[in-house]
Amino acid sequence: MTRTVSIHSYRGGTGKSNLVANLATALARAGKHVGVFDTDIQSPGVHVLFGLAPDQVGRTLNDFLWGNCAITDAAYDRTAVIGPCTGSVHLVPSSIKAADIARIIKQGFDVGLLNDGFQQLAAALSLDFLLVDTHPGVNEETLLSIAVSDTVLLIVRPDRQDFQGTAVTIDLARQLDVQDANIILNKVPSGIDKETLAARAEAAFGIPVLAVLPLSEGLMTLGSEGIFGLGAPDDPYAVGVRGVAARLLGQ
Ligand SMILES: Nc1ncnc2c1ncn2[C@@H]1O[C@H](COP(=O)(O)OP(=O)(O)OP(=O)(O)O)[C@@H](O)[C@H]1O
Ligand SMILES: [Mg+2]
Repeated sequence: MTRTVSIHSYRGGTGKSNLVANLATALARAGKHVGVFDTDIQSPGVHVLFGLAPDQVGRTLNDFLWGNCAITDAAYDRTAVIGPCTGSVHLVPSSIKAADIARIIKQGFDVGLLNDGFQQLAAALSLDFLLVDTHPGVNEETLLSIAVSDTVLLIVRPDRQDFQGTAVTIDLARQLDVQDANIILNKVPSGIDKETLAARAEAAFGIPVLAVLPLSEGLMTLGSEGIFGLGAPDDPYAVGVRGVAARLLGQ
């Protein structure tokens, strides 16, 4: 059985794509076969973290949604990027060509096909985990990925705008009958007490806080040039992400 985990935030730049890349790495290093979908078709980005240059990308999620290819043709094996491990990571990127982005925004697409893509890749690669990176806010893809996920991770910064918007997403998740929705607090400055913040978030949202990840100067300095946890495995951010992976693995 594949466990589908979607990573959302109400606002942009909260750290979804970095979390997806670091989580995929931790799960693959624990021997799991992981698929990553970039459903942020308006502003794709997670391919950068996996070192996938534009000239290495042929077929994309867009092509699959337009009926031009099988989902396996748009999946790129990125296991080599994370070094030797018994698991694997395959990434399905969205197109970063301006014309493709414009077309998908203008014409839309059948969101049901996105779910077909999830299921077909999961079956073809016998995936243990399927991680879905998303566009911030709420749109059709977000609703679909929330509805079909076994687990939803909502990333929140310690910021009043994030808190208010996240409550909206949680309401939606409840309406979509999501059983396992969790908060991850990210970019938490060192001056804020983690336990007090986690308790405040749990009281505000009524769902568990899986991790409180620090504002990391190292991660900021890396600037999406790679997967932070690989070069700085002992950094509190990387340790925190491995904690999230351990929870997903049921440890
Ligand atoms: N814990 C952290 N500490 C410091 N910087 C971080 C942290 N998490 C993410 N960042 C930085 O914040 C920026 C946004 O991160 P990322 O692209 O992962 O967010 P996102 O939620 O996917 O953004 P978008 O909504 O645009 O897709 C990046 O520059 C990243 O390096
Ligand atoms: Mg992103």
